Amino acid sequence: MKSIVIYESVHHGNTEKVAKAMVEELNAECIRAQDLNLEKLKDYDLIGFGSGIFYNKFHKNILKLVGNIGKVNGKKAVVFSTSGQGRESSNKSLRKQLEEKGFKVIGSFACKGFDTFGPLKLLGGIGKGRPDQKDIEEAKKFVLGLEKNL
Ligand SMILES: Cc1cc2nc3c(=O)[nH]c(=O)nc-3n(C[C@H](O)[C@H](O)[C@H](O)COP(=O)(O)O)c2cc1C
Repeated sequence: MKSIVIYESVHHGNTEKVAKAMVEELNAECIRAQDLNLEKLKDYDLIGFGSGIFYNKFHKNILKLVGNIGKVNGKKAVVFSTSGQGRESSNKSLRKQLEEKGFKVIGSFACKGFDTFGPLKLLGGIGKGRPDQKDIEEAKKFVLGLEKNL
């Protein structure tokens, strides 16, 4: 099983921390969306897609990349995000977009990430220190739990 994690992490590097923890467990590589050659995707059996959540959406580079992927036939995928709210429900729209492409989405992970968007900055932000060690452990556990779906 060859895996890759594609991510974007522009606000505080929150999602990058999660992506790196995941690939450690998967024994895989991670790559920023903007650096990926789409042609390479055919070499992988499992693809992770993750970013922060911006106005309730994944980062535009992830959405654009997924938009540019042609139809696949049951290729496995996981989605993950960090956000101020840390809600897993934020992953739903990307999951749907991937399923429409023909991906089989076998897992979804979310945790809080340090957020200093807009007026939050004046308050010192929310979720300071997140993702923390516990979040990172949860992300690793999530990846290990995927094995039963592979
Ligand atoms: C412009 C902007 C919009 C955001 N919108 C949301 C949002 O709709 N919901 C939420 O929970 N967090 C929101 N956030 C917080 C980010 O999702 C959060 O900080 C995330 O962990 C950033 O990930 P990154 O550091 O990997 O880029 C927003 C942050 C910014 C800067």
